[in-house]
Amino acid sequence: MEQGWPTARPEVENLHAYSAPLEGRRQLLRLDFNENTVGPSPKVVEALRSIPADHIAIYPEYDGLREAVVANLGLDLGPEQVGLFNGVDAAIHAVFHAYGDRGETLLTTTPTFGYYTPCAQMQGMAIEALPYEGETFAFPLERLQQRLSELQPRLLLICNPNNPTGTRLAPEPILQLAASAPNTLVVVDELYEAFTGDSVMPLADFTATPNLLVLRSLAKTAGLAGLRIGFAIGHAAVVDRISRVTGPYDINSFAVTAAFAALKDQAYVDGYVAEVLRARSWISEQLKAAGVRHHVAGGNYLLVWPNQDPAHLDAALREAGILVRAMSGKALIDGSLRVSIGTTGQMQQFWSAYARLEGLSA
Ligand SMILES: Cc1ncc(COP(=O)(O)O)c(C=O)c1O
Repeated sequence: MEQGWPTARPEVENLHAYSAPLEGRRQLLRLDFNENTVGPSPKVVEALRSIPADHIAIYPEYDGLREAVVANLGLDLGPEQVGLFNGVDAAIHAVFHAYGDRGETLLTTTPTFGYYTPCAQMQGMAIEALPYEGETFAFPLERLQQRLSELQPRLLLICNPNNPTGTRLAPEPILQLAASAPNTLVVVDELYEAFTGDSVMPLADFTATPNLLVLRSLAKTAGLAGLRIGFAIGHAAVVDRISRVTGPYDINSFAVTAAFAALKDQAYVDGYVAEVLRARSWISEQLKAAGVRHHVAGGNYLLVWPNQDPAHLDAALREAGILVRAMSGKALIDGSLRVSIGTTGQMQQFWSAYARLEGLSA
């Protein structure tokens, strides 16, 4: 207590917590967090509006939600194979809390989603992050196979498609990785899978490879980011272990109601994904035609390298009412901006501002 307040665990004292510029975004065109840019299905909004007042005074109930996830996936899974979490962020945290111990290793890639690192650090784990390869940011598969067998790490985290490079990996090599490393929990973060269709889930046999765990969320495609709900899907025993380290009511009743409605309205999500894919083609064409260095692969986001200082352009776009995310300090992509892809109309708005600010003809 030397400094006048109780000292936390050494890992926490040394931790750089995940921080993102999340405030003051509401009136702007939000192309900075890969969210759904138009909102959830009207059926979700209707379900939320119909919540009776006493619902708020009662602890949430989760009966039937795991079954609804399984029905939505259309796969031969039992409800006990689905873990419910307060967003995939909470699932990631729970995975590390349940499985990651001091001195053990997280094997992952770089650059990737920023929350894996603090989760490993708060457990006192070592991190080995293998860089994506070449101009296309290809998945470092051979290197990863090699390090997986050499290190036998406690955890392997693969973001597929990867945020922010969009790098895609087919399901078969992921399943082979999991089969080759039974002592490693192989976590596949499929948050943006709807934009590629590369899920391991249809091929996965969680009995044969119980060390495989898949993360899915209703945040991005279904538009429930503000309500926080995500799922971890895998072997029932693993799902049970990661669920043990969460609180009994970590997911609130509003998220539960919204999730039921969203899972029932897959047509809405499919329609949104189709529109994002159209918008992605449109903006790619513009960037190509204008000779702008860019990288578009999987996911509802792309990278652009502006001619001017990216921090300046980031600020100027904000002035124009458009938020994007500067990738400053990120391995391999420092100097780029990550731009989330919304509707074609929204990408037109982005492109006209971007082209004007960069002195290009739109
Ligand atoms: C790759 C990846 N995983 C997980 C998350 C967190 O998802 P959720 O909103 O469900 O917590 C994000 C959000 O940006 C993400 O990009």
